[in-house]
Amino acid sequence: MNQTALHRMLALKDLKDLKKVSPQNLFDLRVTTNLPLIKELFYSLYKDPKHDPYFKELLELLPSLFQTRSDELKLHDLHLLKKGNWYQSEKMAGMQLYVDLFNNDLKGIEEKIPYFKTLGINFLHLMPITTRPKGENDGGYAVNSYTAVDRRFGSKKDLLSLTSKLRAEGIYLMLDFVVNHTSDEYPWAKKALQGSAKYQGYYYMYPDRTIPDTFEASLPEVFPATSPGNFTYRKEIDHWVMTVFNSYQWDLNYTNPKVFLEMLSNLVAMINSGVDVVRFDALAFLWKKIGTNSQNLPEAHMLISLFRMCLQTIAPGVIFLAEAIVAPKEIIKYFGEGNREGNECEVAYNASLMALLWNSIATKKTLLLNKTLQNSPPKPQESTWINYVRCHDDIGLGLDDHYISELGWDPWLHRKFLLDYYCQGLDWSPAVGYQFMYNPSTGDGRITGSCASLLGLEKAIRIQHTAAIEQAIQKILMLHGIILSYGGIPLIYAGDEIGTLNDYSYLDDDHKKYDSRWVNRPSHSWQTVANLKEKETPSSIIFNGLKHMISLRKKNKVFADANNTILHDPRNPHLFMFERNGKNKEGVLVLANFDEHPQILGVDVLHSLGYIKDGALSDIHTSQKRKLNSGLMEVQPYELLWLVKP
Ligand code: GLC
Repeated sequence: MNQTALHRMLALKDLKDLKKVSPQNLFDLRVTTNLPLIKELFYSLYKDPKHDPYFKELLELLPSLFQTRSDELKLHDLHLLKKGNWYQSEKMAGMQLYVDLFNNDLKGIEEKIPYFKTLGINFLHLMPITTRPKGENDGGYAVNSYTAVDRRFGSKKDLLSLTSKLRAEGIYLMLDFVVNHTSDEYPWAKKALQGSAKYQGYYYMYPDRTIPDTFEASLPEVFPATSPGNFTYRKEIDHWVMTVFNSYQWDLNYTNPKVFLEMLSNLVAMINSGVDVVRFDALAFLWKKIGTNSQNLPEAHMLISLFRMCLQTIAPGVIFLAEAIVAPKEIIKYFGEGNREGNECEVAYNASLMALLWNSIATKKTLLLNKTLQNSPPKPQESTWINYVRCHDDIGLGLDDHYISELGWDPWLHRKFLLDYYCQGLDWSPAVGYQFMYNPSTGDGRITGSCASLLGLEKAIRIQHTAAIEQAIQKILMLHGIILSYGGIPLIYAGDEIGTLNDYSYLDDDHKKYDSRWVNRPSHSWQTVANLKEKETPSSIIFNGLKHMISLRKKNKVFADANNTILHDPRNPHLFMFERNGKNKEGVLVLANFDEHPQILGVDVLHSLGYIKDGALSDIHTSQKRKLNSGLMEVQPYELLWLVKP
């Protein structure tokens, strides 16, 4: 039993009648329950006896931070606790968006609540909204503050108004906690630049290259093309500072317990604006150790769990999302392992599924997808995925070379093929994407581009090819249909619901033009939305298709994540097939064809799984019955079926 379940159990009596509840008593109970874990985690990280005073400080910090939480949010926490694992529900459907690009500012987001409701969205990820440097700022991931709302988005008051409206409408909110680094304009960084030893100790700062060079020997580069190396020289103080991401993003030094304490306070201040899910940004990088790649280290996991266990005492309703775009066997660890299971992050990005879907589109085969998923470790019962097709970042080719080789493909050539396919290296490819951080010496590269452009819509519209347009739409709907039916929270990237193409305006902006991720960060076209009802366009077909699938998802309990996503072998290298089953033998079988030709599925598979009744299948996606005339069934190019068990 994880700590959340324990807190729920202990609070059960009070949760029955929330009006009679004493939040303070429950807080005290949570502290008592979590304290042994908090102590163990703290001392595993901060072993030196000189750190004792910080532990004392932490114990005093917890109640004082609890006092900063409003009564309304204290009650909201208990509501969420009472709801159980709400994040696993079939009712969840999310959207990720940039506030300014979507509709100017926070007030603009509030205005669009009806839009979210029309589509069926009840979970929002708003990209960073706090103050940031004026020039380059990595889309706000270089933070000048964890709480001050940047003026372009509105005010603190606007944020509070929005979050209270979202709560009233039953829409969950996720905000980023940029836990790994601050900008070089953050108050601590500024003081460090003025020579303060205290604040220099908040970062990894060195007077010469000795330690940086030792680190570099085993550190990979995140942005090799634009920000090579992991350290930046600052002439103001003649020091080198660790900057794993961009040169203006300074890595926080969590070996200093004071940094943890201050960041815990920042975290609480942030969630006090009414956040339900904390997106723990770049959390794989939290702990650095010479001689390692400083990613996914055991200490990083302890630190995340320490944040989690402390925050849980203060805000038991708030949950954590792991933003760890790492290999499947590493991702799974962010749900917590061993006695930390369920005590780290509740949600993680399903980055493997995302990359494998793109791999399947390019190869028109599902072999690598099936092989990888079949061999991926199971996730804990209380956890869930965020399933997504696109997001604001690049698509990393996080594929397992070993599996690629087992399929008889050369990993290097395979990656080259994918880059060529998506980044205009092959004439016949329908995709219009761009290379991101290509490293000629290793051949490593990532891909940028909007979902629609990568799936062929941009090119098809350009050459006015009706069949190609239709095919691109089919692909967009098929991929989204998969993330809407696979176990977890589907997260749609704003703009994809109306088939938004690449946006090239970033090339005119000196602060953005070197970062091709901006090609997939377009302004939302409200003109397109206004026309959705007028006539049938690619946008309206996509929008209505998604809306339909979201509503189907919400009506079918099997889509709630209870680790009930079961892969089946379709015995055809182009098909993807998985089942969602419920407690009472109900089930939905999802079937997708990644090939441009019709593909054959042996009916015996459907028969043995119990999906045939009176010689027919029933597809809830198209509301059609499909009569079977032989032992073989044809699945059309890029067709998606949601077969319901009779
Ligand atoms: C995360 C964000 C990405 C950002 C990075 C550094 O990976 O998704 O956009 O560049 O963190 O903060």
